[in-house]
Amino acid sequence: MPHTSQGFLARARLYLVGIGAIYAGAVFLLGIPYFQSHTVYLNAIKLPWFANFDAPEKYGLAPNKTLNFKLNTADNETLGAWFILSDSYYHSLPSLPSPVSAHVEIALRKRPTILFLHGNAATRAFKARILHYEALSARLQANVLAIDYRGFADSTGTPSEEGLVKDARAAWDWLVSRGARPEDILVMGHSLGTGVSAQLGAELSRDGIRPKGVVLLSPFSSIRELLNTYHIFGLVPLMRPLAMIPYMTNVVTWALIHKFDTLRAVPNITADVVIAHAQNDWDIPYTHSEVLFNAFLAPYLPQVDSPMNPMSIKKDEWARISEQQRVRSVKHDALVTRTELPHFGSVEKFEADGRKVILVKALAGGHDYLGVQEGVQDAIGRALGFF
Ligand SMILES: *[C@@H]1O[C@H](CO)[C@@H](O)[C@H](O)[C@H]1NC(C)=O
Ligand SMILES: *[C@@H]1O[C@H](CO)[C@@H](O)[C@H](O)[C@H]1NC(C)=O
Ligand SMILES: *[C@@H]1O[C@H](CO)[C@@H](O)[C@H](O)[C@H]1NC(C)=O
Repeated sequence: MPHTSQGFLARARLYLVGIGAIYAGAVFLLGIPYFQSHTVYLNAIKLPWFANFDAPEKYGLAPNKTLNFKLNTADNETLGAWFILSDSYYHSLPSLPSPVSAHVEIALRKRPTILFLHGNAATRAFKARILHYEALSARLQANVLAIDYRGFADSTGTPSEEGLVKDARAAWDWLVSRGARPEDILVMGHSLGTGVSAQLGAELSRDGIRPKGVVLLSPFSSIRELLNTYHIFGLVPLMRPLAMIPYMTNVVTWALIHKFDTLRAVPNITADVVIAHAQNDWDIPYTHSEVLFNAFLAPYLPQVDSPMNPMSIKKDEWARISEQQRVRSVKHDALVTRTELPHFGSVEKFEADGRKVILVKALAGGHDYLGVQEGVQDAIGRALGFF
């Protein structure tokens, strides 16, 4: 018996050393731009494999409801894109659109359009995304423009943070060039796409353009924060081991090329914003959405001082800070209305400077199916005037 248990210990040690080595190797590779890029974007995973983008019907969309076309960016990339007609327009026609391209400009004037910016990995024909187009074109009666960023699907080029924002802008400009009014275009991002949407939202605000709104589905506050809260398979904290090494988290921040710092873009977005997150999202914790909502709220709440020396707070300093916190909390409750919807979740909302910011926390939907929850779609529809 002692013999086997020794053998077991030796093997366990070997496994641990092995896992440690794989972890160290993975972290090392992430420091190399090529690998970091492929890990952030996962654009090499072109699911569904060998998709025929000319046949959206094969993936569940109605016959002749979708135009497959190519979009050009300001820096000469060519992007694969689908323009999907809203169901109300599609059903109003006496027969199937033929060709679909002849209907784009009329549809853009009849119904709002959602510019859908997808998350990392896979293509615009991926099942979970198709379910979004179906739900958005039916429940919100919106047209949908879904693009594949550079380096994804049948698009040219390689992805980069700046490049993806250019791609989103090219899609926006295409819609406007076809006659869509900015106030009829909703920018909607999912997961990695929320980083792109927030930056497009900030860029539009800078240019004095006000879209119908910016919707962030399952967003993250920044890739750096995401790494800190990410759990492999929802279980193993990715960065916890690294955090034990002094200054290591600073090194990681420095090595990050693709930052997607939505938290820094937030102050620049002046449009209406809906943030939605599922509490059972095991990829990106919903606390990221709370951080973003609070960042929108922060300019409207009074400051609370931080203690001069947290180790020895004086009595009068303590009293002052507690009073500041009380005033802030009263102001918060006066500004933010909160509605509990049993079995669905909650909706928090505030309005200031002529725009509203809404946080929807859903109990279900996970990371990939949050946006197809009817309650989430309705919260967006109600907040942004679809109904
Ligand atoms: C894009 O391509 C066109 C023709 O192929 C070329 O004339 C132009 O200079 C290119 N622009 C950029 C920004 O590379
Ligand atoms: C669908 O559109 C194509 C052209 O885009 C056209 O050739 C075809 O006839 C249309 N189908 C029907 C049933 O109208
Ligand atoms: C926000 O706006 C400021 C001032 O225009 C600009 O310097 C900054 O780069 C913008 N940040 C983002 C993330 O858009």
